[in-house]
Amino acid sequence: MLGGNGFVGQAIVADALEHGHEVTSFSRGKSGPGLPEAVTQLVGDRENGNYDALRTGEWDTVVDLSAFQTRQVDQAMDVLGDRIGRYVFISSHAVYARELPPGTDETAPRRAPMRAADVLTNETYGPCKVACEDDVLERYGDRATIVRPGKVTGPGDSSATVVYWVRRGARGGRVALPTTPEQPLQFIDSRDLGRLVVQLIEDERAGAFNAVGPFTTIGEFIQLAAELAGTTVELVQVPADSAPARFPLMEPETEWNSRRRDPSKARSAGMPVTPVRKTIADVLAWDRDRGEPALGVGLSAEEEAALLGQG
Ligand SMILES: NC(=O)c1ccc[n+]([C@@H]2O[C@H](COP(=O)([O-])OP(=O)(O)OC[C@H]3O[C@@H](n4cnc5c(N)ncnc54)[C@H](OP(=O)(O)O)[C@@H]3O)[C@@H](O)[C@H]2O)c1
Repeated sequence: MLGGNGFVGQAIVADALEHGHEVTSFSRGKSGPGLPEAVTQLVGDRENGNYDALRTGEWDTVVDLSAFQTRQVDQAMDVLGDRIGRYVFISSHAVYARELPPGTDETAPRRAPMRAADVLTNETYGPCKVACEDDVLERYGDRATIVRPGKVTGPGDSSATVVYWVRRGARGGRVALPTTPEQPLQFIDSRDLGRLVVQLIEDERAGAFNAVGPFTTIGEFIQLAAELAGTTVELVQVPADSAPARFPLMEPETEWNSRRRDPSKARSAGMPVTPVRKTIADVLAWDRDRGEPALGVGLSAEEEAALLGQG
């Protein structure tokens, strides 16, 4: 696991251990709360090309979770060569062309590849992942597996965007919503993603897989969080430009179809479907358990009240 200690990596590691596999994780050793003792941990740095810890050893499979530019996959593949059986590249659904209709599968057109970018943004992240996919496929052919997750969430979520709305729904009351409640959402529960990846490895499946979960909407999501916490909410739509920029999970309508990807190929390959309700319940419980640290996104209770004219 190149990046087994990150958020997604931990879910794959947990599933692999549960299914009796031996796991090695390679990273700088900075992220996450720490891996189980059973995991062999190797230290290196993909930023400066330090792969020394991987120069000896053999692995049935490599799962690459920490590559965003071709330089990173190319260096890892050069080092690992034929000392690995399969290369599973964790890509993203951001590889797909913009403005596709809803319900597209893995055969949908992708964006033009970009071999490198100084900064990863909405404009460069997807195209850079496309070029990484191509390099992995070119090198390993049938021994390559490409997994394209949508937004990943679950207990341990390292990004604040989903947690913001879980917390906001749970608090109850009048909720300032800078979009319509019908805005589509489609996450993948990290545990479903972990199961999919390990099953793909066990079955030696090649090709690309959309790792995306059930359809929901932002309105339904907030209502579910409230219900689970025993509160009630009133959703109050506010103008998009009245909310801070990059508001959690807000997307322009032109992007909405990207939250309606077809998961059937991954489901047929064994990806479970955790209900959205359970995912929210588990994120809520985990977040409370860790003491709900500041998220630094969205609106504070005071800012929201002022926006709704209650300040
Ligand atoms: N999270 C999502 O919603 C989502 C959605 C689609 C696709 N993905 C893909 O899933 C993968 C994992 O995402 P994540 O959310 O789990 O990210 P994350 O929590 O930030 O984990 C990143 C992992 O990469 C390692 N890493 C970072 N810089 C490194 C370096 N210079 N050298 C070696 N290792 C390094 C980190 O460990 P150290 O910090 O210890 O080095 C960590 O294990 C990524 O490829 C991402 O594109 C994620």
